[in-house]
Amino acid sequence: MWRLVVAWLLIGALDAVDRQNFKTCEQSGFCKRHRAVTSPTGYEVVGDSVKTNETGLHALIKNKDTTLRLSIVALKDSTVRVVIDENDGALRKRYQPLEALVDREPAQQKVKKIKEEATATKVLTTDGNRIVLQHKPFRIDFYVKDKIVSSINAKETLHFEAFKKKVLLSDREKGFWEETFKEIKDTKPHGSSSVGVDIAFVGAKHVFGIPEHAESYSLRDTRTYEPYRLYNLDVFEYETNSPMALYGSIPYLVGVHQKRSVGALWLNAAETWVDIEPTTADKGGLSKEVLDADTKPRQVPQHNARFYSESGLIDVFITLGPQPNDIFRQLAALTGVTPLPPAFALGYHQSRWNYKDQKDVKEVHDGFVKHDIPLDVLWLDIEHTDNKAYFTFDKDAFGKPEDMIKDLADKNRKLVTIVDPHIKKDSKYYIYKEAKKNKYLVKDAKDTIYEGNCWPGDSTYIDFINPKARKWWSEQFAFDKYKGTTKDVHIWNDMNEPSVFNGPEITMHKDAKHHGEFEHRDVHNVYGFHQHSSTFEGLKARSNNEVRPFVLSRSFFAGSQRTAAVWTGDNKADWAHLKQSIPMLLSLSTAGLPFVGADVGGFFGNPDEELLVRWYQAGAFQPFFRGHSHQDTKRREPWLFADNTTEAIRNAIKTRYAFLPYWYTLFYEHAKTGKPVMRPFWMEFIEDEPSWDEDRQWMVGNGLLVKPVLEEKVKELSIYLPGKRQVWYDWETHKARPSPGAVQIPAELNTIGLYHRGGTIIPKLSEVKLTTKENHEQPIILYIAVNQKGDFANGTIYLDDGESYAYEKGDFAYWGFTFKREHDYLHTITNKNLDKKGKFDSDVYIDKIVIRGAKFYPRNAHIFLDDFSPEDLEFEFNRDNFLMEIANPGAFVTREFRIDIHS
Ligand code: NOJ
Repeated sequence: MWRLVVAWLLIGALDAVDRQNFKTCEQSGFCKRHRAVTSPTGYEVVGDSVKTNETGLHALIKNKDTTLRLSIVALKDSTVRVVIDENDGALRKRYQPLEALVDREPAQQKVKKIKEEATATKVLTTDGNRIVLQHKPFRIDFYVKDKIVSSINAKETLHFEAFKKKVLLSDREKGFWEETFKEIKDTKPHGSSSVGVDIAFVGAKHVFGIPEHAESYSLRDTRTYEPYRLYNLDVFEYETNSPMALYGSIPYLVGVHQKRSVGALWLNAAETWVDIEPTTADKGGLSKEVLDADTKPRQVPQHNARFYSESGLIDVFITLGPQPNDIFRQLAALTGVTPLPPAFALGYHQSRWNYKDQKDVKEVHDGFVKHDIPLDVLWLDIEHTDNKAYFTFDKDAFGKPEDMIKDLADKNRKLVTIVDPHIKKDSKYYIYKEAKKNKYLVKDAKDTIYEGNCWPGDSTYIDFINPKARKWWSEQFAFDKYKGTTKDVHIWNDMNEPSVFNGPEITMHKDAKHHGEFEHRDVHNVYGFHQHSSTFEGLKARSNNEVRPFVLSRSFFAGSQRTAAVWTGDNKADWAHLKQSIPMLLSLSTAGLPFVGADVGGFFGNPDEELLVRWYQAGAFQPFFRGHSHQDTKRREPWLFADNTTEAIRNAIKTRYAFLPYWYTLFYEHAKTGKPVMRPFWMEFIEDEPSWDEDRQWMVGNGLLVKPVLEEKVKELSIYLPGKRQVWYDWETHKARPSPGAVQIPAELNTIGLYHRGGTIIPKLSEVKLTTKENHEQPIILYIAVNQKGDFANGTIYLDDGESYAYEKGDFAYWGFTFKREHDYLHTITNKNLDKKGKFDSDVYIDKIVIRGAKFYPRNAHIFLDDFSPEDLEFEFNRDNFLMEIANPGAFVTREFRIDIHS
């Protein structure tokens, strides 16, 4: 019977998403109740209840029905935490997904001064920010340099459903004690315990974040439509331009302002909806505060975000920026960064549901060699298992996994296998038996083992909320348990929303039970997070913490970046989905998750050759670069097409590999600063407001602008060059262009719009080999793009062994390059060790130096490798486009040199 349902789901998916499967706000009891709050809910601070301490304050707040406990705590680095919980005597404990935080207790900071006044309590933080708790009505205002930047409850929509004893069902409480959706009942034994409040972003022209939605990068006004929904769901062939929930959720949003950007992390793992209201300060309830700062309220843009969560606490972290770099650092301090990935993970990944057998696998990866196309990883989807029993191999098709893996490893390649969280209900299956015996399986509302339908048919689900279950799960990756695998096998966690084909909205029943007496509704959005985190721990442990793991997850939450890369799930082979991937990946990057990608070519359907080429070109400049497709699609290995298509795909993949030194450096820098590798424009060009919401172009690091061709059959590609009074160079022609401005370039089959930002230096491989390993420590070309004033450019490079944790003990090299105009007749290029702790001994040398924007006439150039004996350098200079090229300068990346260019 379930086979039929699955077949129906799949067929349904061939057209478009079946919206009927998923709730609207109107169909979700608590969302509807919160949205209906339009008049002030009347909370005020209880007289005399404010208690101050070294780092903040506590107080009680109440309205006519409810009394709540409030705490406001100053954290390090201009961050403030606000928690609102039930007062003592609550009937149940609320779930707090502290696992999302790097530090379950983020470091607090002593405040400078607290002033208690009759109508407000004012806190001055050590960072010079001010927090004002207004007593009546209850409201919390945040000031940076005396300007109000954010406010909680300015619209007075705080609504908090305290647990209560079940009494008579009145009409008002419809949906409070039980709810039915598509004939599936949610028994709600504890009633509703939802929470919600409004957060204002004062001065913000745009708000970004709260992935995952197939939507524009800048969040839209939702008032006349649906709120954005955060509820991890398996949505087949999702629609573009829709606020519907998708596979993962990061409840983090940033309001962008030229001088005072602000972020808000809503730490809640339950189903959450977010309404966005663009307005102005006068209408947003903050006229007086804005007036105090001498500005006309109706001219101050404001965005109000209203968050509603089905259960849990109001636990909000406000990061007060004020600059983009501060925002990313502050978020990273809370939810962490992606540790340096193994180098192979930045190469190209080839996947398909499914490669049939070992012969197929071999033919495919040999094909990449034969056709001279780089490849690092081959992927095996669900069919490689013994009847969907994960951690096993199908005995007929994959009878000798060791041989297959060795064959890949001999060619410096890796294998990724899929391991989903649903466990086949089969008394002969060791994973099921152990999980059942140890009580590591999720239970249903009646306290028996929860059963649902997924790929294996009848399935049970690991209770990842149980720390013991997580530890046990990690151990399953040990080489003696996951038989046939070696250190060259990495893991893909799919279907971990979790997907339950016969569950409500294709996921788990909300009244299912987890460890610690929590219901599934409390922990839903953090379920997948725990699966991929324990997978990561398992991979690390199986190599005695020596090899860096790679884990791809479909579901995610705040903090997922610490242990997983993610992709955007089941997209479609059409132009709209290609375009959609960009704002989706930017939104993830904004929310702190940098290692992201979309199925290249589209998962459902067959792309035509033009679309496929364009998708490879876009994917080559996105962090996670994998071709993947549904089992019903035609085979798409790059050589199965017309020669010029294969050639264009080869070029795109080779271009990716050529930039690997830059990508790797950016990931290293991400781990230090929290800055994403794929960057939205506002992060780099805060002075260029019209560019902030750009979602067709992006930056890779601070130096490379990317605009792929995203339209069918176009002859020209138009590119916007952001910034004020900056210069950009066409990557291919070196031609300089000022910004802000737009350029049109011919859109040929091999065209990818790439511009090099003046003032930056990018290292690129001088020749590309077929795997990251072979490209490791190969010579580079240094591309110097001189700034607009013609006097400066700088850049960095990071090197290490590419796979182990030795870099944590000093086995790395992090160097900087600087181009400088010393005076009218002398320009220099120097390098410098940026971190003396790094002891990595590398032989990487510089094959060539390309200087774009060399607005001088070089007479001679020489290099100093020590202080005494300069050596003459040969160079070419092109006056027409101010291009200087120095071949074979004889310089090593990690040995100090100075090049003098006399003019
Ligand atoms: C759903 C995933 O999104 C897709 O990538 C995968 O191929 C199928 N599951 C089968 O495992």
